[in-house]
Amino acid sequence: MTSPILAPSILAADFARLGEQVEEAYQAGCTFIHVDVMDGHFVPNISIGPLVVRALRPRANHYAATLDVHLMIEQPDRYLADFVQAGADILTVHVEACPHLHRTVQAIRELGVKPGVALNPATPLAALEEILPLVDLFLIMSVNPGFGGQSYIPHSTAKIHRLRQMLDAIGSTALLQVDGGINEQTIGEAAAAGATVLVAGSAIFNQHRSVQDNIAHLTTAASLVTKLTG
Ligand code: DX5
Ligand code: ZN
Repeated sequence: MTSPILAPSILAADFARLGEQVEEAYQAGCTFIHVDVMDGHFVPNISIGPLVVRALRPRANHYAATLDVHLMIEQPDRYLADFVQAGADILTVHVEACPHLHRTVQAIRELGVKPGVALNPATPLAALEEILPLVDLFLIMSVNPGFGGQSYIPHSTAKIHRLRQMLDAIGSTALLQVDGGINEQTIGEAAAAGATVLVAGSAIFNQHRSVQDNIAHLTTAASLVTKLTG
């Protein structure tokens, strides 16, 4: 089993030192940066937009890294082109925000980037059934979206496992991402259930340890459990 990818979420970073903090994550070996876009409508919080993606692009190019943009916004179709022009590599939209999900996924692909589809904790996996072969990344929210620093919802592990089975059954190589409450205690079970991309915000950018130390601890915690099961 290949090791899962750790995707630092900049939502928890110190925005006054954003470039520096992202540089630390790259130096520690990360190849994904997760960018949380919130509009104050789909979720109660407001965060950032295409300007920040544009600012992150040159450094991502330097490290050949992926900018993984998670759109927690209503009517995401209106902004897809803006995020692609700003430099996103993956655009993930929420099932709950897309009445015409198939059209949205096609539009993302036609813009030349990878489409991702996210599910809130209460949304059943059945919502993905018809779109399964057409998407490059599936995101299981393991908290209700909108804020960093929340606790992992334990039921998420079974949901990840069931999605893993659905993807394996059709031979899909899509990424299976988990987002919310990932830390040293929870990363192992999410990885063991079949997640291939683990998003972590507050477990990476915090006052307790350096970004590099936090990444090392999370990587160890993830590999211990995947080794036991994989
Ligand atoms: C939550 C966001 C997450 C968030 C995760 O709505 O989608 O990406 O940054 O933060 P932590 O890792 O602190 O739960
Ligand atoms: Zn996110």
